[in-house]
Amino acid sequence: MVPLLLLVLLCPTGALGLGLVPPFEQHGFLDFSLDDVPALGPGDEDEASGLFPTSGAPDLGLDELGLPPPSGHCPFGCHCHLRVVQCSDLGLKEVPKDLPPDTTLLDLQNNFISELRADAFKGLEHLYALVLVNNRLSRVDPKAWTPLRRLQKLYLSRNLLTRVPAPLPPALVELRIHDNKIRRVPKAVFHGLHQMNCIEMGGNPLENSGFEPGAFDGLQLNYLRISEAQLTGVPKDLPETLTELHLDHNQIQAIELEDLKRYSKLTRLGLGHNRVRGVENGSLSFLPLLRELHLEHNKLQRVPPGLPNLRHLQVVYLHANNISAVGPHDFCPPGFGVKRSPYHGISLFGNPLPAWEVPPAAFRCVSAPLAVQFGNYRK
Ligand SMILES: *[C@@H]1O[C@H](CO)[C@@H](O)[C@H](O)[C@H]1NC(C)=O
Ligand SMILES: *[C@@H]1O[C@H](CO)[C@@H](O)[C@H](O)[C@H]1NC(C)=O
Repeated sequence: MVPLLLLVLLCPTGALGLGLVPPFEQHGFLDFSLDDVPALGPGDEDEASGLFPTSGAPDLGLDELGLPPPSGHCPFGCHCHLRVVQCSDLGLKEVPKDLPPDTTLLDLQNNFISELRADAFKGLEHLYALVLVNNRLSRVDPKAWTPLRRLQKLYLSRNLLTRVPAPLPPALVELRIHDNKIRRVPKAVFHGLHQMNCIEMGGNPLENSGFEPGAFDGLQLNYLRISEAQLTGVPKDLPETLTELHLDHNQIQAIELEDLKRYSKLTRLGLGHNRVRGVENGSLSFLPLLRELHLEHNKLQRVPPGLPNLRHLQVVYLHANNISAVGPHDFCPPGFGVKRSPYHGISLFGNPLPAWEVPPAAFRCVSAPLAVQFGNYRK
């Protein structure tokens, strides 16, 4: 049994470290708030196996690591099962001292841990995932991660951290540090993390100037989320490898020509709930692989230019803007021009746009009539 399926699935593009074009999956709005780990119940065996299904789990080869048989003892109050040590909701003020050395997943969420000392994880060299969500962490000794040579998933969301606790474990694949107090991301803070794939760092008071030039140097990320921050523009220095970028719930006012130039591998771009008044002509042409574009809840007065040329674009969210007209070539190429993937979702409700004034031909490259949502516009 590999007790890791849940965590693998939470990284939305976890299997993409190989530079392959991802299979496209349609996601809903709620996906943009992918957040914290569900509490692992005060587990008996049945609950644990429900959370961590035995079939279909990726084979991470734990047995081949030659781990010793699970050790007998378990910290007081925690639940230990198959190298998963679950100590959530125990009112802990520090990391328990007597953790089994073969632990692969350590869940410490919903406690009151405020500090990680240098010896906090001593001897836990098999640890694969560490969950510290919803504690009071503000201090992390730079040596605290040193034993965690195999750690791939580090979940630090909902704490009081003012900085990324570097140097991070070298095998890290996924970092979640949502909802902390981080204002600055210094140059090369992720240096040497060659396997890092996915970072969730929304909910921090980050302004554009908070990212030092080179902050993301060396990272080959697929997924980055900096939602619910204080960005006023698209950051220009993010990894070029990104396939998903989520910047919703910021204060971005415009998409300018050069903004997206670096991000030519994007398949999903989330810019909903900003203050975007305009998308400069040509700026979307840098995203030839784009499949899903979120611009809902902005201040757009027209459909962003360039959509017909995005041959893979399937889903466009434009609801709750200030769009008052749709032209015949706003979505579809002129004439019999071909769009390789027909749209299967365009949302236009919540705009001052009476449906009867929209030329039906505007949607000739849409897969089904229901794919276009107008809703009711009432003045
Ligand atoms: C946008 O740019 C394209 C080519 O660069 C041009 O053909 C088109 O007329 C422009 N559209 C607007 C609205 O400026
Ligand atoms: C909506 O657009 C119109 C012009 O079409 C403009 O006069 C108006 O101020 C805009 N409303 C908002 C809330 O931005």
